[in-house]
Amino acid sequence: MSANIAEMEKRRAAAKLGGGQKRIDAQHAKGKLTARERLDVLLDEGSFEEMDLYVEHDCVDFGMQDQKIPGDGVVTGSGTINGRLVYVFSQDFTVFGGSLSARHAQKICKVMDAAMKVGAPVIGLNDSGGARIQEGVASLGGYADVFQRNVLASGVVPQLSLIMGPCAGGAVYSPAMTDFIFMVKDSSYMFVTGPEVVKTVTNEVVTQEELGGAITHSSKTSVSDLALENDIEALLAARDFFDFLPSSNRDDVPERPSADAWDRLEPSLDTIIPPSANQPYDMHEVIRKTVDEGEFFELQPLHASNIIIGFGRIEGRTVGIVANQPMVLAGVLDINSSKKAARFVRFCDAFSIPIITFVDVPGFLPGTDQEHNGIIKHGAKLLFAYGEATVPKITVITRKAYGGAYDVMSSKHLRGDLNYAWPTAEIAVMGAKGAVEIIFRGQNADGIAAKTKEYEDRFANPFVAASRGYIDEVIYPHSTRRRIALGLRKLRNKSLENPWKKHDNIPL
Ligand code: HXC
Repeated sequence: MSANIAEMEKRRAAAKLGGGQKRIDAQHAKGKLTARERLDVLLDEGSFEEMDLYVEHDCVDFGMQDQKIPGDGVVTGSGTINGRLVYVFSQDFTVFGGSLSARHAQKICKVMDAAMKVGAPVIGLNDSGGARIQEGVASLGGYADVFQRNVLASGVVPQLSLIMGPCAGGAVYSPAMTDFIFMVKDSSYMFVTGPEVVKTVTNEVVTQEELGGAITHSSKTSVSDLALENDIEALLAARDFFDFLPSSNRDDVPERPSADAWDRLEPSLDTIIPPSANQPYDMHEVIRKTVDEGEFFELQPLHASNIIIGFGRIEGRTVGIVANQPMVLAGVLDINSSKKAARFVRFCDAFSIPIITFVDVPGFLPGTDQEHNGIIKHGAKLLFAYGEATVPKITVITRKAYGGAYDVMSSKHLRGDLNYAWPTAEIAVMGAKGAVEIIFRGQNADGIAAKTKEYEDRFANPFVAASRGYIDEVIYPHSTRRRIALGLRKLRNKSLENPWKKHDNIPL
């Protein structure tokens, strides 16, 4: 018996050494943790239960039959994060560069299937040279098997990808189909074709970091939701983030005790709106003063910052927050901000996370750039996302709600459950000056000024909308948290269904 156990221990130890000490040292020298060290940071201590430790590839080409490493370049299994179950895979760059063989893919598929069966999120730690070159088409088939599962799992269990090394070629499409991507600065990159191919085909000279590094994808492309400084920071951020997510679409949002009184008043919000309508203020302040303990987990802070998205909690329960940001482009809706918020709204709706929307929006951004790049189609995404969402929706208009953007931003007409306005709200077809210049074209400056004043007096307030029932109540800004908490309590058992359909046809 003891000999058998000794044999098992020997095999385990060999498998855990991955590609060997030299390659582990090389990984450390790049400032990266190994696949197993990463799981140690991500998961609760001692909670990791590994599967498929002894799986090996079956490739016999290019001498591969003599190079077998148990585990085959990916560590898979389950564990807990703050006590909640999660399935994980962590690619091991020390084994054939973390490249994906058919068996490696099979291991990933196994954890995804298990997660789907029991309703638990999947977190993938990506660090891979892509398709295992020696395996050819078997590797491509393996990728497609993973892709198919990403699709089927979408909207069923949350999927989070951490990119912690190379992720190139078709391999990018698995993370791309997961709900969120966090990237590590300087050591990770994602591109469909790398700098060398780019140079050959287009003559452009570009570094890996510029082409597909963490900053590029977190600011320009929005492929990534966050750029973190190093492996540890990324893994700890993933732990914090995980705490906001429901385990599956069958589960309620997680709940945790909060010491923050649900009816806490915030008098400073009564004076946060500047006297002039053109002066900005930071919507982050409104958000932080509303959520539990001021804790707001923002996503995509570097991309389309004219809209803010992220998670907070009210009475210990997760809420999704979408807010126009008057500090950036006056909070206008444009292509990027519409797409950013639409995807977030759809995630919240898929996973029963109530959506709180703070509105201060002067409208859609004008210009040929926006029109020619499809603001019609992209703006419609956000409209569509809000319109189809059946989760509790609470809207607070703090200042401007102009034009089509008023409709889009979780208005009553899109089945907003509770639509509040601060007394500073201005709900109108457009800003007073622009409106008057159209309807009183040709008038002299004095006439325009007088009519602008008249238009402002008539429309630069929330009461016209409230008189029609489009606003449920005009509230004291200081009572915003209390109103939202009460609203969420009322809406806990909200029941609303869209008509039966195979699926919708959101303007992609
Ligand atoms: C097999 C691979 C490999 C791969 C790396 N290795 N990539 N083995 N298949 N795809 C091995 C190397 O041979 C080496 O083995 C070890 O991993 C570490 O690689 P290095 O090159 O020494 O590391 P580094 O200098 O850090 O460079 C990393 C790298 C580079 C940039 C990722 O290895 C690279 O360019 N690899 C090939 C990338 C690629 O073209 N992949 C296919 C993409 S197409 P030893 O034994 O020396 O340690 C694709 C299609 C997917 O993925 C399609 C899905 C639909």
